[in-house]
Amino acid sequence: MKQRIKSIGLLTSGGDAPGMNAAIRAVVRAANFYQLQVFGIYEGYQGMIEGLIEPLNARSVKNILSRGGTVLKSSRSEAFKTAEGRQQAYENLKAHGIEALVLIGGNGTFTGGLYFSQEFDVPVIGLPGTIDNDLYGTDFTIGFDTATNVVINAVDKIRDTAESHNRLFFVEVMGRDAGFIALRTGVASGALDVVLPEESQPMEDLFFELEKGESNKKTNKLIIVSEGNKLGSTMYIADKVRERYPHLESKVTILGHLQRGGSPTCNDRILASQLGVAAVEGLLEGRSGVMAGMIKNELVFTPFAEAIKERSHIDQELIRISKILSI
Ligand code: F6P
Repeated sequence: MKQRIKSIGLLTSGGDAPGMNAAIRAVVRAANFYQLQVFGIYEGYQGMIEGLIEPLNARSVKNILSRGGTVLKSSRSEAFKTAEGRQQAYENLKAHGIEALVLIGGNGTFTGGLYFSQEFDVPVIGLPGTIDNDLYGTDFTIGFDTATNVVINAVDKIRDTAESHNRLFFVEVMGRDAGFIALRTGVASGALDVVLPEESQPMEDLFFELEKGESNKKTNKLIIVSEGNKLGSTMYIADKVRERYPHLESKVTILGHLQRGGSPTCNDRILASQLGVAAVEGLLEGRSGVMAGMIKNELVFTPFAEAIKERSHIDQELIRISKILSI
């Protein structure tokens, strides 16, 4: 039987997401509970290569539960994509006596984790931390709930101006090539239409929705555009609409990195806490190469390869509901 692990390394990688700090706290405190030593690896995989590694204890993570960003900092490391980079990272783990890893991040993070867990005898567990919600094996990723609440608060404000001036607004949201943020916030903010990467709608569909809005006497028109949609950039879409309907006064708002910041919602804090404990317990049970997630309130471990490749499917029922309610 393999020996019980005694120490773990913890890092955050890729785009930061609200709730990552809550997850860091949960991992550190759960590890302390099980008498494991924890090392924080700063600046993601790059810090693992450069040896930016410090011990953490239960008190090092005080007062971070409610803070956005990540106290461990993050990066997207090119060097970790090379075999030499990963070998150097492994040497640094060995030098610190780190026997297992917890990774908090998204697609890129788990791709790195998959390689690393196959190449070295170091158990690795991932926690889904990304605002995009684009991982298979969990209903929600840590940060998604906060980001969507940031978006609806912003759109509610934009609606005030849209209504006061009878304007059309295009609001661009993040999500890379996934439309989860756009669809959910479109329904929750009463958008006239949602432009998603998962759909190949022609520009004509958008024109049709706009004309419907006009004939239904909608005085404000809000269109949520997912950044990865197939029609083109939000500016391009707005220009096409202006060419077609010169009488419509339209504006573009790109919410950008606003969506990644701020204090995590209660849902994100709970999810991060549940998954942080699950990661430590999963390692103690001998799991590796898997992402911890919650599906229908049940803890599920999904192999990295599936979590990053299978892709969660966009909710077709929510698309249907959005169309019914946007009249
Ligand atoms: O993956 C999170 C995310 O915010 C995406 O929604 C977005 O496309 C991307 O990261 C932006 O990355 P960066 O902050 O590196 O520009």
